[in-house]
Amino acid sequence: MVAAPRTLRRRHRDPRPLVRRHPPAQQALDDFAPTGDVLELAAGTGWWTERLTNRARHVTAVDANTETLDLNRARDHHGDITFVQADIFTWTPPPAAYDVVFFSYWLSHVPAEHLDAFWHHVATALRPTGRVFLLDSYREARLDQDRQQRILSDGRAFHIVKRYWQPDELSALPGWHLTPTITTHRQVIYAHGAPAR
Ligand SMILES: C[S@@+](CC[C@H](N)C(=O)[O-])C[C@H]1O[C@@H](n2cnc3c(N)ncnc32)[C@H](O)[C@@H]1O
Repeated sequence: MVAAPRTLRRRHRDPRPLVRRHPPAQQALDDFAPTGDVLELAAGTGWWTERLTNRARHVTAVDANTETLDLNRARDHHGDITFVQADIFTWTPPPAAYDVVFFSYWLSHVPAEHLDAFWHHVATALRPTGRVFLLDSYREARLDQDRQQRILSDGRAFHIVKRYWQPDELSALPGWHLTPTITTHRQVIYAHGAPAR
């Protein structure tokens, strides 16, 4: 079993710092109305899964990490959810099966060499009228080589991919019509849209 990163476990127990940053993005997601069959990629411990189940007919929550999925599963979800343990980079979603694909704090971690395949999977997972909603952390400048050091509470240090997507990059994404917004506190970027049809 792969252990959930300690930061995620801590956030699951005490999500207040994250929640404080979220109301505008949460409002935007409510306005977007994620109804029908929703695919949530990199679902994590489920803070957003809960919000999705408020509106969706069914949520398929995908994550690579068993412990993280267990924490998600243990939440007091009201809706209909299927949990899938899978590596997003090798898992192929069923084609044209979803009305909405949602991912939060995920796109910033996708390595450049996986981006085309990732967006292709998102597009093929959507029904002809399907839509996408993403949100992520925002900074006005990208990091050197889109890399960031993360230090775990046990002292181990990792360099991770962390690309701070800019609004013009999202709105110019080939094959997509995305409408990006930066929240007024400028810590979160969210975007919704659909494949160019
Ligand atoms: C930064 S967290 C975001 C979690 C959640 N979306 C949220 O906003 O709270 C990233 C998540 O991606 C998952 N993850 C990392 N690599 C993955 C992969 N290759 N396939 C599927 N999930 C992955 C991790 O287990 C983690 O739950």
